[in-house]
Formats: sequence, structure tokens, C-alpha cells
Amino acid sequence: MARHLITSAIPYINGIKHLGNLVGSQLPADLYARYLRARGHEVLFLCATDEHGTPAELAAAKAGKPVAEYCAEMHAVQAEIARGFRLSFDHFGRSSSAQNRALTQSFAKRLAEQGLIREVVEKQMYSVADGRFLPDRYIEGTCPNCGFESARGDQCDNCTKQLDPVDLINPRSTVSGSTELELRETKHLYLRQSDMRAQLQDWIDSKADWPVLTTSIAKKWLNDGDGLQDRGITRDLQWGVPAQFDGAPWQGMDGKVFYVWFDAPIEYIACAQEWAEATGGDWQRWWRTDAGAQDVTYTQFMGKDNVPFHTLSFPATILGSAEPWKLVDYIKSFNYLNYDGGQFSTSRGRGVFMDQALSLLPADYWRWWLLSHAPESSDAEFTWENFQQSANKDLADVLGNLVSRVTKFCRSKFGETVPEGGTWGAAEDALIAEVETRLRAYEAYMEAMEVRKAAIELRSIWVAGNEYLQAAAPWTVVKTDPAQAAAMIRLALNLIRVYAVISQPFIPDAAASMMAGMKTDDWSWPNDLRAALGALPVGHVFEVPEVLFRKITDEERAEWQARFAGVRD
Ligand code: MF3
Ligand code: ZN
Repeated sequence: MARHLITSAIPYINGIKHLGNLVGSQLPADLYARYLRARGHEVLFLCATDEHGTPAELAAAKAGKPVAEYCAEMHAVQAEIARGFRLSFDHFGRSSSAQNRALTQSFAKRLAEQGLIREVVEKQMYSVADGRFLPDRYIEGTCPNCGFESARGDQCDNCTKQLDPVDLINPRSTVSGSTELELRETKHLYLRQSDMRAQLQDWIDSKADWPVLTTSIAKKWLNDGDGLQDRGITRDLQWGVPAQFDGAPWQGMDGKVFYVWFDAPIEYIACAQEWAEATGGDWQRWWRTDAGAQDVTYTQFMGKDNVPFHTLSFPATILGSAEPWKLVDYIKSFNYLNYDGGQFSTSRGRGVFMDQALSLLPADYWRWWLLSHAPESSDAEFTWENFQQSANKDLADVLGNLVSRVTKFCRSKFGETVPEGGTWGAAEDALIAEVETRLRAYEAYMEAMEVRKAAIELRSIWVAGNEYLQAAAPWTVVKTDPAQAAAMIRLALNLIRVYAVISQPFIPDAAASMMAGMKTDDWSWPNDLRAALGALPVGHVFEVPEVLFRKITDEERAEWQARFAGVRD
């Protein structure tokens, strides 16, 4: 039994996430957490909402609400949807918590004491009408390169040229539309990341077992020359962790906050503190290497765009503090999921969002499709045809059908109890041998977080059961040799329990129905498969469960495809 700390990248507070966001971090993290718990390990699985920064401020303004109120509401909304998808967080925290404020400020102070913070005075666009400095992407104007009229201050979307807001012709604020903009001086804190290049390089080099996607991105940034530039960790904003506090070793930071990417990963630690406060748990045991965390294995899940922040910036914060914090042991990153011939787009409302998905079908359908098509080695694509086919085939035809055939047949011939008689022969031995081999492969893939390969193995285990039944044909055998048919059904009923246990990380609701149908609460992992297939003894009472998975019709598919092609209202 080991201890595993698992975190998923924390989703931005502004708006409900789409299925591409879900499969890139929270869902595979949940799969892994559920698997490790099922194997008897001690797991702390944390996630939170990422609540600071300009996008949150602007979303609140658009909703006509004070930003704190907006964030509290959206946190509740995201928490409810996470429950709907059965994401088994031990705590779903908030980066705006008191714990994160204190911890973020203490990291900054500590980094300053280590000589890793310097002050920089720079010029930035100030909007007189809005009474605030504007981040580059909240300034628009005409592109000096191509003449496009809605080029952003950081980049032109038309010709892709990287821009500086001062390059724009007729610049204006996207917040108010005002053109009354001027360059003003402002002072910011910079983290001397460049001083830590060697230390970070050694650390990354020591991670030979990390996925290529993770290390290639990290190395690209390390070796690019400008990847490890010193980084501004403060912003001229209202909403965030104030960069001013008692005993701060710097002056003149009134009205400034820490940059959202500085405080967000610190929430991984603060979230454990929030969890401890809510449950009485001991957070230090998970995060402080002087308090037991040296025995913890820490795994982070995220989309590829998050990798630089987790391989370089956050480790720079942790290492720079020279305090005994736990460093991540393994970073599992994902490519993108595309939607029906294009990209998911939050701003354009393209694709299926988490709340919409749950209004169409229960969580297990989405969990199964998303995980079995996880964008691991390359980008993946959601299409409605593929979704329908995979749900109807894998879930309804293979798994659902097996459960319903076996239980209904047993009820009609032997009653709702595990039947007596007969013995297992060569066909049963062959099935057990195949399931055994595949089960060990499944375990290895799950341990390695090879999500797609694990899904393939699990499906093959379901298929093996179906093929066995098809060939053994107890419904025919029962006419001539009822005892032999009883032996087959005894095996199949036990197989249903085993399937519930091993499928639970992927499809927790169906697994719970299967287990409830088998009228047992024995979730023990089939370490010894043969023994596990005797867990439901002769005479054990069960009941035929409700249909596990209904099929998606062609009409539904066409309707959904049309409904989600356009813009979300
Ligand atoms: N909110 C970010 C995103 O959705 C992820 C933040 S992860 C953390 O891309 F490390 F900052 F916590
Ligand atoms: Zn342009």
C-alpha cells in the first residue's frame, strides 16, 4: 500500500468547460485516482477552480456581478457538474481561498529572501476611461502588417504576427472601447527564473520515465534561449492575491496582485490545506517532505498547453523557496481533442460543454468514449458517429448485453440465485486464462496511465466473456444438461461482479448497478482471479439489474450533431 497525491490542472472559473478540457486533465486524473483506490492505495485527489486574473474580472463584469460573487456562483456550478461526471475529488477547492492567499504571499516573501525577486519598472498601456492598466490582449486596433482592424495587442489573428500594443494603429480598449490610452510607468516583481536554469535542467533530465510529450515541451522551453527568462509575477489588477502584505520586503506594490499563473499552482498545496480544514486531515503529510511526504508519489494531469508552467515555473517557485515541499514525481500530459472537423471553442461556443453532455446522456457514456479515445499520442477527434458507434457497441452490445442475458436467463431457468451443479471444464479454463492475462495487462497499463491501451484491454475482457457465452450457449445446453448450464451461469454471474470491480474506474455508475444487481458489496480487486470467480457462492441471491446502457438512435445522433454545430446561446 502506497500513498498517492494526484492533482488535475485547475479549470478557469469563467464558464463551463467543454469535453476537450475534461479529457485533458480532470477525467484521466479521476480514472487514475479511482484505480489506485481500488487497488487499496491511500489517495489524495485534489482539484479546484482557478479564479484570479483578467478573464474572471471581465466575465463577472459581463454577468453584471461583483467578481467575488460571480466566482462563488461559478465554483458551485462547476462543483455540481464535477459531481455529475462522478469526478471523485477528495476536495474541490478555490484558488481565491484564504489559504492560497497566505501561502502565495509567503512563497513570494520566501523567494525574495532567497534573492530571487527583482523589481522592474516598465511601461504599460493605461486606459484613462477604464481607470486601469490593460493586459495586451484587451487592447485592439488595426494591424500594422496586414491592415486587419481587430488585431489584438499581443497578436494579429489574421496574419498571426506577434505584436506589441504600441504597434497598433488606432488602439482602443476592448473593455470600454475607449481610445484614450496612454503609456504609463508601473513597477513589477520578477522571479529570477534564469538563475535556476541548471537546477531545473538537472531535475528534468532525471525524469527519464516521463512521457515524451511532457519532456519534449519542457526541454524546448529550457533550451530555446528565451524560455527561461525572468518572469513577471505581479499585475496591475484589483482581483487576485494582493502583492502587498505585512512584512513584505518591497515597497510601492499597492493596488497590484500576483499574476494568476503564480498563485494557481500554489493552490495545489492550499487545496490540501482546505481539505485538511474541512475533514481534519493532515495536509503536511502530503506536501511537506519533513512531515512524511517523502513517501508520497505525486502525479499531475494536464493538457499540453499547461506543461511549461508545471515543468518550469511552478518547480522554480518550489525549488527557489528552498523549503521542504514535495515536488511532482510524474506529469501526465494530453494533446487536444477536436470537435467534428474543427476545434472546440469556448469563445465561439463550438462543441459539447460539460453541462450539455450530462443533459443528453449519463456520465458513463461520456467517460467511456472520452477515456477510450483520450488524446495521448496525438490529437483526437470527437465525432457523433464515432460516439454513437462506440457507446452502442462497447457499452450496450458487449457489456450491457452480457449482464442482461446472463441474469435474465438465470432468473427464468434457475431463479434469482447462483445455481448449483456441474463443473468447469476446458472452455471455462480457457476463458479464465484469457481474462487473467488481459487483466494483468490492464493493471500494467493503468499503472502506467496508458489510458487508451487500458480501455482496449478492458473492452477485450468484456468481449472474452461474451464470446465464451456465445460458444458455451447455456440456453441450448440447459435442455440436455441443466447442471452444466448451471456451472456456466455460475461463472458468468461471478464474472459480472469481477467486471464491476475492474470497470469501476471507467464507468462507476454502471459498475455500481452491476454490483447492486449481484447483491454484494465485495469490491475487492481480483488479485487471484480464480478465487474471485468464486466470490458469489451457490445459493447467493441476486436480482436482474435495470438495463445498463440504452442505444443511441440515428435520429438522436443527427439531432445532436445539428444542435451542437452552431453557437451556444
Ligand atoms: N486554469 C489553467 C487552465 O485551465 C490551469 C491552471 S493549472 C495550475 O489552463 F497549475 F495553475 F493550477
Ligand atoms: Zn495582421
